[in-house]
Amino acid sequence: MALRPSNPKLLFQFLVILITLSSATKFVSGNFYQQAYTIWGGQNVQYQNGGEVLALSMDTNSGSAFVSIHEYLFGRITMQIKLVSGNSAGTVTTFYLASSGESHDEVDFEFLGNQSGNPYILHTNIFAQGKGDREQQFYLWFDPTADFHNYTLIWNPRNLIFLVDDVPIRVFRNHKGEGVGFPHDQPMRVYCSLWDAENWATQGGRVKTDWSLVPFTAYYKGFDPDACYPAYDYYKCQWSSAWTPWYDQELDDGQKGNLKWVNDNMMVYNYCNDTRRFPDGLPKECTLQ
Ligand SMILES: *[C@@H]1O[C@H](CO)[C@@H](O)[C@H](O)[C@H]1NC(C)=O
Ligand SMILES: *[C@@H]1O[C@H](CO)[C@@H](O)[C@H](O)[C@H]1NC(C)=O
Ligand SMILES: *[C@@H]1O[C@H](CO)[C@@H](O)[C@H](O)[C@H]1NC(C)=O
Repeated sequence: MALRPSNPKLLFQFLVILITLSSATKFVSGNFYQQAYTIWGGQNVQYQNGGEVLALSMDTNSGSAFVSIHEYLFGRITMQIKLVSGNSAGTVTTFYLASSGESHDEVDFEFLGNQSGNPYILHTNIFAQGKGDREQQFYLWFDPTADFHNYTLIWNPRNLIFLVDDVPIRVFRNHKGEGVGFPHDQPMRVYCSLWDAENWATQGGRVKTDWSLVPFTAYYKGFDPDACYPAYDYYKCQWSSAWTPWYDQELDDGQKGNLKWVNDNMMVYNYCNDTRRFPDGLPKECTLQ
């Protein structure tokens, strides 16, 4: 029997097989041996469970970092992270996307450590065509050192959505039409690092790193980006939102409610509020919806 697209039942079976195959290959891609390599502090990078988990440590000599092998242009990218526990003051654990070269684009999740029992701050920023200064900071509603949590960036031509365990905490809309920068043309790689920032990270730099506690360690897993490789995935992203539902995604009403809850209850700092820092007027995107 020939497979003819006019036969809906066969076409359906064919699609089911395709989808099954494509999700089966995902098990392979969650592995850090296939997805990432070390760029800094190799002696402090440890692959665990056959590459399912990657542990970054910082000691008195060095922090550590890894980068994704692939670069992406739009995607839904999640990293599961378990942060440095105990007294993590002075440490910064990161998960960010960045392009290379001048006028770079960058989207940051940075976790600012704290003394035992005091809350981490999740620091976010967006650079577009080399310009940053778009910080927003949040407390988390759980202990991020007790277990892995999902930190996700949805990056599509309409907006950047930052999510924590699927709860949106920040949206940066594409206002290129109004002259506001937006990461749109430059592919970015995923970077993760653990480094020392005792001069500013914790309570504005008043609390320093306790170096008697080294090594500090953070754990990453589940890196399985659903994203477009600019070189050969162009059509996947341009063409079919059935393959990439995140490509058109914007917040629905329920998510807008969650975002408002986060803004009202968890926000520590918002550059769009900081009139002392921008005496000549807030950045343009702050007044656009
Ligand atoms: C993170 O996402 C994974 C995969 O969807 C899920 O199994 C896990 O329960 C999530 N973790 C949390 C803390 O929500
Ligand atoms: C650390 O804890 C203090 C006291 O609760 C808090 O003010 C601060 O925002 C916390 N986070 C950081 C990164 O300093
Ligand atoms: C932003 O400014 C408003 C009005 O001044 C204030 O009510 C709110 O608490 C501020 N939010 C933050 C995160 O600073």
